[in-house]
Amino acid sequence: MNLVFLGPPGAGKGTIAAIAKDAFAIPHISTGDIFRANIKNETELGKLVKEIMASGNLVPDEVTIKMVEGRLGEEDAKKGYILDGFPRTIPQADALSRMSNVDKVINFVLPKEEILKRLSGRRVCKSTGRTYHIIYNPPKVEGIDDETGEPLIQRDDDKEEAILNRLEVYEKSTAPLIEYYKAKGLLVDLDCSGKPEDILEDLKKILL
Ligand code: AP5
Repeated sequence: MNLVFLGPPGAGKGTIAAIAKDAFAIPHISTGDIFRANIKNETELGKLVKEIMASGNLVPDEVTIKMVEGRLGEEDAKKGYILDGFPRTIPQADALSRMSNVDKVINFVLPKEEILKRLSGRRVCKSTGRTYHIIYNPPKVEGIDDETGEPLIQRDDDKEEAILNRLEVYEKSTAPLIEYYKAKGLLVDLDCSGKPEDILEDLKKILL
């Protein structure tokens, strides 16, 4: 099953993908996570994208497309994938259609007020990428990762100015993909206002 998770920042794409990958036995491929791993490891790609990501702007299409093409060519992606955060522009969607056949595009739907609450309360473990929320999904000990014991941090792009920019970038560059995939008959809306376990059940009803 080849799936695309589409939706505004903070809608819960990464949270649902992290549980859906086990339910569907396919890899979770998050372009944001791959970029963040490159920043952490101080690779050339990481140096190139660090400032762009912190501001909430998009990494250039050609860089992102090349990276995804490489990742989809890996063995584990041959049985299917969940693409989280890609495509984000029409040229990326055109490139994806040349690389692979997408089975369904899941459009994560959540009101803007809730998006803002989710993003401003998100905390992450830098080394594992594990995601928490200070109210909705707090760690066992405040500010500390449950498994590694490392301090949790707020992503640079979860600061207020970057959040507002990311929402604008989403409306301008990514929201047009809703009509793009609707026209291809691939788009399904998913209400993301409930609990992650319930959202996963709704997703299974759509897909299985
Ligand atoms: P990326 O990492 O993809 O960020 P995003 O799309 O903005 O998505 P987020 O990770 O912010 O949100 P999410 O929907 O995964 O929500 P989450 O599950 O964490 O991209 C970051 C940057 O990388 C981009 O800005 C860009 O610079 C670059 N980039 C990446 N892909 C690119 C591309 N294709 N082209 C160009 N540039 C690219 O949940 C959010 C919070 O809510 C968490 O705290 C979570 O615990 C909580 N939560 C989640 N679900 C629920 C729920 N059901 N109930 C209560 N709380 C919940």
